[in-house]
Amino acid sequence: MGIGEALEDAARFGGGEDGGVTRMAWDRTLFEVYEWLRARASECGFVSRIDAAGNLVVVWAAGEEPAVALGSHLDTVPSGGRFDGALGVLAGFEALRGLRDAGFEPSRPIWLLAFMDEEGARFGTSMFGSKAFVGEDVTHLTGRVDQAGVTLAEAMERAGFDPAEVVGATAIGQVGQYLELHIEQGPVLERNGEQVGVVSDICGLVGLRIRLSGEANHAGTTPMEMRRDALAGAARFIVALRGEMAARETCVGTVGMIEAEPGAFNVVPGAAEISVDIRAIRAEDLDGIERWVEEAVTAIAHEEGLDVAIERIHRLEPTAMAPELVDLLSRSATAEGATHRVMASGAGHDAMIIGRHVPAGMIFVPSAKGLSHNPGEWSDPGDCDLGMKVLRRAVAELAG
Ligand code: GLV
Ligand code: MN
Ligand code: MN
Repeated sequence: MGIGEALEDAARFGGGEDGGVTRMAWDRTLFEVYEWLRARASECGFVSRIDAAGNLVVVWAAGEEPAVALGSHLDTVPSGGRFDGALGVLAGFEALRGLRDAGFEPSRPIWLLAFMDEEGARFGTSMFGSKAFVGEDVTHLTGRVDQAGVTLAEAMERAGFDPAEVVGATAIGQVGQYLELHIEQGPVLERNGEQVGVVSDICGLVGLRIRLSGEANHAGTTPMEMRRDALAGAARFIVALRGEMAARETCVGTVGMIEAEPGAFNVVPGAAEISVDIRAIRAEDLDGIERWVEEAVTAIAHEEGLDVAIERIHRLEPTAMAPELVDLLSRSATAEGATHRVMASGAGHDAMIIGRHVPAGMIFVPSAKGLSHNPGEWSDPGDCDLGMKVLRRAVAELAG
């Protein structure tokens, strides 16, 4: 099975009528795709396990040194694409299988990892699995609640996991380097007609939840100047954020979720809650934008007669990839005849968590029209295969 077919096959798990894939963290469909991959791994003679944080770990045992780890994630955003995350896991598997079929004998273990909940789309707990893998304390997150009112702890228990045991997933001490193949999720490679991106840095991310509170009132009888309309305040902030981010280089900001209360045609919204996703390559830009958000939303709230509460859901610092792996992956791309560029990532990846502990490197392949987190996400199977070969060559050099 080639990488294109493997991606098609995996998309059956959680596949929707719109062509997208929904495999949320801890859901049955995610464990089904794990089992599908474990069966394929077992046919190839690799052993696998699911660790205490819900990460899938496939092991090619060899030697005593720390492992070369490859990986990405198999969870998705709601109605996400079939490439985001899945490509890195399935191409990693393809690389292992190809090396084994070619008679390659590794001098050290090679691990293939699919991290739990990279997306964080269900509980706001992005990188849960990779954080647990490196030994970060994630137990304080288990009280988070999804849109259906289920806590993370409950979701874990329903899937057969014990939230108190998550620390057992810590295994970074057994890993020497980490490599991740991913789709670019942006337009740069396609626009420049290049086949491979070698990642130099991964942007930092801040996630905020902002709640504006005013007063619910009658939509027919409340004069416009007497309203304390929380949704109107949120709307003003969203437009202000767009303008501010457009004026800053290498920074982006997004409001992706909005809720109005009580939520009726004929009621002036008494409360509104929005999510704010901020990204920047430099930590000082993240600091500056967080300050700007606080000032801007406070000023708007004051003018609209609203109260405001800001909660930080997450902050992940920007992470540089290891220079020696940038070099190795660039050489591997050249050896595979791939045109490539060294570039920054505007998306978050598990490599930013792993890369704080051991050298990490990432390869991108082009995304058609720069589209991602969308059912129409698409990367050419030939490009995916080339990315896999670059990965395979780099693994062979590290584990040879
Ligand atoms: C992960 O997909 C992210 O939000 O960057
Ligand atoms: Mn991803
Ligand atoms: Mn994603």
